[in-house]
Amino acid sequence: MKNITCIDDLRDLHMRRVPKAFFDYCDRGSYTESTLRANREDLDRIKFRQRILVDVASRSLNTTILGEPAAMPMILAPVGLTGMQHGDGEIYACRAAHEAGIPYTLSTMSICSIEDVAANVKKPFWFQLYMMKDRGFMKSLIERAIAAKCSALVLTVDLQVIGQRHADIKNGMTVPPQLKLRTLYDFATKPAWVSGVLRGKRKTFGNLAGQMAGTEDLTSLSEWISTQFDPSLSWKDIEWIRNIWPGKMVIKGILDIVDAREAVRTGAEALVVSNHGGRQLDGAPSSISVLPEIVQELGSQIEIMFDGGIRTGQDILRALAFGAKSCMIGRAYVHGLGAGGQAGVAKAIDILAKELSTTMGLCGINRVEDIDRRILVDYRNNL
Ligand code: FNR
Repeated sequence: MKNITCIDDLRDLHMRRVPKAFFDYCDRGSYTESTLRANREDLDRIKFRQRILVDVASRSLNTTILGEPAAMPMILAPVGLTGMQHGDGEIYACRAAHEAGIPYTLSTMSICSIEDVAANVKKPFWFQLYMMKDRGFMKSLIERAIAAKCSALVLTVDLQVIGQRHADIKNGMTVPPQLKLRTLYDFATKPAWVSGVLRGKRKTFGNLAGQMAGTEDLTSLSEWISTQFDPSLSWKDIEWIRNIWPGKMVIKGILDIVDAREAVRTGAEALVVSNHGGRQLDGAPSSISVLPEIVQELGSQIEIMFDGGIRTGQDILRALAFGAKSCMIGRAYVHGLGAGGQAGVAKAIDILAKELSTTMGLCGINRVEDIDRRILVDYRNNL
């Protein structure tokens, strides 16, 4: 890890250490990947105003997220199949997040179950729920999250129909999975990864185990999952969840101001401006391009989180300057996990934190709550 200086270095190592099928599953986007690219390109275009001779000796990243103190304005995003990037990946990622003083979100589609993670970490984590047809099963998942003392429920609402990733089909990451000769050869050349995953607590989707009347193999579960996403969902279903879940609720996957207003009406504590990391609606705008409008109208009514394309601390500062309260980190931490397990996730968080702190300093800012549009070059146009 000594020669790793940025998230791109972790990505390179992740690519070398983990079978291509799983690396691509993490790295790629849907269809032409135009939205995946836009997330990065639009962030890169935002320029900072350099400020000099401002005393920035007492910089701090401390903030609050959903009313709780956090060491920095970052959250590890829900990521499916994390345990396939590294054995027990969910547990290691959660531990790294907690050690860094930030929240971790466990995906419905995780390999380690809610209970596996709860038994192996010391603090509460967040749970992400996909809206599925089987309401009884959804209720049971929520009850399991309550029993595990999860401290927030993140409802992901942008997966009513599933966007296609061409790379996944070519790699056999389909429903059901298709093991191709090339994939098997690739696995055989990554023995450390194979033994790590085999040593892990689970080999298939932990939260869904037991759901399939005795069949818990990856193939049957994948088929079951693909029939479960419900294209008929509506805002009424969110009300139903709100009545079952007693704690804090976050609605993830908002890109449009009309939907953002609806999210506020549900009484959710926060919403995440997100295009699912360019994995769903190809051709959707970048997350950063829609953030200002949503913040301007609703920022005083609901906590606004952001994700999509964050690969540097500078990107986090850009999103905060546009009014996000905190940022969810997706691929950046998964690259760390694939590269080096818990130490790799810790490294990813540390890289982002140091870049954020340095960039704040160069912009003449000491505290997270002082970040606003005025740190940007074109702030006059944006105000
Ligand atoms: C995701 N994302 C996601 N979101 C969610 O709510 N539930 C999930 O299970 C997943 N699964 C998932 C798998 C992988 C491999 C990736 C990369 C992403 C989306 C994720 O939470 C987040 O919105 C994006 O990752 C943010 O974009 P960046 O940071 O990856 O560019």
